Amino acid sequence: MFRSPQQSIPARALSAEPLKHKPLYPMTIHIKSAEEIAIMRVAGRLAAEVLEMIAPYVIPGITTEEINQICHDYMVNVQQVIPAPLNYKGFPKSICTSINHTVCHGIPGPKKLKSGDIINIDITVIKDGYHGDTSQMFLVGDVPIRASRLSNVCQEALYLGIRAVKPEATLGDIGHAIQQHAEQHGLSIVREFCGHGIGKKFHEDPQVLHYGKPGTGITLKEGMIFTIEPMLNLGKRDVKILSDGWTAVTKDHSLSAQWEHTILVTHDGFEILTLRQQEVDDFAR
Ligand code: MF3
Ligand code: CO
Ligand code: CO
Repeated sequence: MFRSPQQSIPARALSAEPLKHKPLYPMTIHIKSAEEIAIMRVAGRLAAEVLEMIAPYVIPGITTEEINQICHDYMVNVQQVIPAPLNYKGFPKSICTSINHTVCHGIPGPKKLKSGDIINIDITVIKDGYHGDTSQMFLVGDVPIRASRLSNVCQEALYLGIRAVKPEATLGDIGHAIQQHAEQHGLSIVREFCGHGIGKKFHEDPQVLHYGKPGTGITLKEGMIFTIEPMLNLGKRDVKILSDGWTAVTKDHSLSAQWEHTILVTHDGFEILTLRQQEVDDFAR
C-alpha cells in the first residue's frame, strides 16, 4: 500500500498510558477474534489458491489482461469471492500485474509476456467480508541470472521478515531483517509502499515498513494480522507513478521484485495465512 503520514504516530489502541495529546492520525490496530481468524484463514487460503491456479498460465505469449480474466473468473465463479482490487479507489482490474521495472500496482492490459520477463501477480480476495492478500514473482521462460537472483533474494527477505514475527517483537525487527538481507545482496528497498494491517478493510493499521531498526516501532501482539510485502530493486530505490495514476515503476528502469504474504501473530510466533502448498516445507517447524 501507499504510505501515509500516520506511520510515525504511536499506536493509540495499544499504548498502556492514556495519551496526553490527541494524535493527528490516531492508529487503531484491530486484534482479531478467534472467529475473525477462522474466516481470514479461509480468505488467505483462497488468495493463495488463485496463485497456484494461475501458475501454469504464466508463459510467453499470454497477455496480462488474459491472466486477469482467468483469475477474475476463478475468484468469482469457482471460489465465489470478491476480487478486492476491482474498483478499489478506482483501480480498473481484478488483480495487479507488475512486469520487470514495474514495482507494484501494474494494471493488466494487452501486453504479451515474453521469455525473459519477470512478473509479480498480486491477488486479494474478500471472503465473508474479510481480505486475504498475497503476491509472488513468476519467471517467464529463460530469465537472466540477475533477474532470478533479484526474485530469490526478495523472497528470502520476505521469509526472514516473517520469521521475525512473534508476540513482543516489534515492527522494526521485521523491517530490519528484510533490510539486512536486501542490502547484503546490494539491492535497494522501495520506501513509498509498505505492508499493512488487513481484515475487514484492505488496508488497516499498522504500516509495515520493509526497513528499520531492531526494537523500534509497534510491539506485536497475538491476534494481529498484517501483510509483509517487500519490493526490492536491482538499481536505485526511487519510484515514479505513471499517468494512469497507479503503475509504480523504478525511476532508473531497473528491475524490481516483490513477494507478499498475510501473517497472523500467534501465541508463540506466526502463521502464514496465504501459504502455498509448494512452500509448506520452507516453514516446517
Ligand atoms: N494488493 C496490493 C497490496 O498488497 C494493493 C493493490 S491496490 C489496487 O496492498 F488497487 F491496486 F489493487
Ligand atoms: Co498488501
Ligand atoms: Co497485495
